[in-house]
Amino acid sequence: MKVVVIGSGGREHAICWQLARSTRVEQLIACPGNPGIDKIATCWRDTDLIASPDSFVQRCKVENVDHVVVGPEVPLVAGIADLVRAAGIACFGPGAIAARLEGSKAHSKDFMARHRIPTAAHRTIHSIEELAAALDHLPEKVVVKASGLAAGKGVIVCDDRAQAQAAAEAMLSGESFGESGKIVVIEERLFGPEVSVLAVVRGTDALLLPPAQDHKPLLDGNLGPNTGGMGAFCPGNIVGPDELARIRTEIIEPTLEGLVADGVDYSGVLYAGLMWTPAGPRVLEYNCRLGDPETQPVLMRMQSDFADILEATAGDGPSGASVTWDERNALCLVLASDGYPAAPRKGQIIEGEIYSAIDDEIQVFHAGTSSDDQGSCLVSGGRVLGVTALADSLVEAKELVYARAAMIHFDGKIHRSDIGTFPGSLEPTTSIESN
Ligand code: AMP
Ligand code: GLY
Repeated sequence: MKVVVIGSGGREHAICWQLARSTRVEQLIACPGNPGIDKIATCWRDTDLIASPDSFVQRCKVENVDHVVVGPEVPLVAGIADLVRAAGIACFGPGAIAARLEGSKAHSKDFMARHRIPTAAHRTIHSIEELAAALDHLPEKVVVKASGLAAGKGVIVCDDRAQAQAAAEAMLSGESFGESGKIVVIEERLFGPEVSVLAVVRGTDALLLPPAQDHKPLLDGNLGPNTGGMGAFCPGNIVGPDELARIRTEIIEPTLEGLVADGVDYSGVLYAGLMWTPAGPRVLEYNCRLGDPETQPVLMRMQSDFADILEATAGDGPSGASVTWDERNALCLVLASDGYPAAPRKGQIIEGEIYSAIDDEIQVFHAGTSSDDQGSCLVSGGRVLGVTALADSLVEAKELVYARAAMIHFDGKIHRSDIGTFPGSLEPTTSIESN
């Protein structure tokens, strides 16, 4: 099997790492990849392939690629999966219409309301004139969201009306998130622990991966601005087998049935970002791809061949794949660059233990890195590396990860010190298998 993975982040490095272990993948290519991926796959770096979906698909055809895996949301929302499939090549990822569940929060809230999927009460607004009425309709504490894509940063959790008003005004004027903020979703603020449930789906067939917990805020104690995610661990300590069964019947199945009822053909990953409130699970967001950094600890635990999931999803459905999980815990710590998420510093040289052998139980997944002519590895993005370890307990995984992180150096290296400990505890967790 010849597989191309689109993307250059930590999630894509983890996907490539799993596919590099596959006995069925003979040729692994990443487009564009990164210096970490370059050690285990061929990287297509040609700028025209990255800029032009048509050139990319043409190259895949010429090279007889069997399967394309799309990592990030931007190409999915733009419709790359439709183009790849139209060329007769299997693609892991939903088409543009299905990917609107992530590409437009206004659309996904409308979808959830129509299909009675549990979520926060909301109002969608298009202008400042609609703001006061929307805030009057909702409780005092709200969350203000840019409807369009904003790399996980377009959500402002507000404590009072003045803050909500300022956040919504900055979005609607285009000041804070450009075009993505011109439509704003304002929703009731919910409270409770969060969990990411990643389901591989085709139509109404779903394979739930073990739940993971992400730490979105920048600073320890869940303070500071939201980021794409500063670390994650798997399995989480909130969702046991009973809760996962509820998530399947109350969230995942109604979502897939709603998509079918709307005539939307969904294939790939449906990521449900959930809050477990006193009233049960509520959807905070849908994403149309694997989470980043959740994928790193989730895939560290996958013992079976990821290529089987790709093939089953393109064939009769993902639940037909035989999937086994390592019993142990995995934890990923993101090393970011000073200034992230607003304006990360870039260009610093990264030194230390930044590459792993394929069977190491500590993997350093590259996210925002590039290489220069002298072969040095440089910081090229806000989230730079995702140090991920597998160990008997979460406590041990955490110790391994932090010890390795201390062996990596670049100017402006920042990270949280409480990954795996907040919220919740480091109590042993019930191991959750896919079902
Ligand atoms: P989202 O990108 O929509 O998942 O939002 C990013 C983060 O904002 C979530 O992980 C939550 O921590 C927070 N958030 C989003 N929606 C809500 C909500 N309705 N109530 C409380 N927190 C929220
Ligand atoms: N870690 C959150 C996301 O992938 O959207």
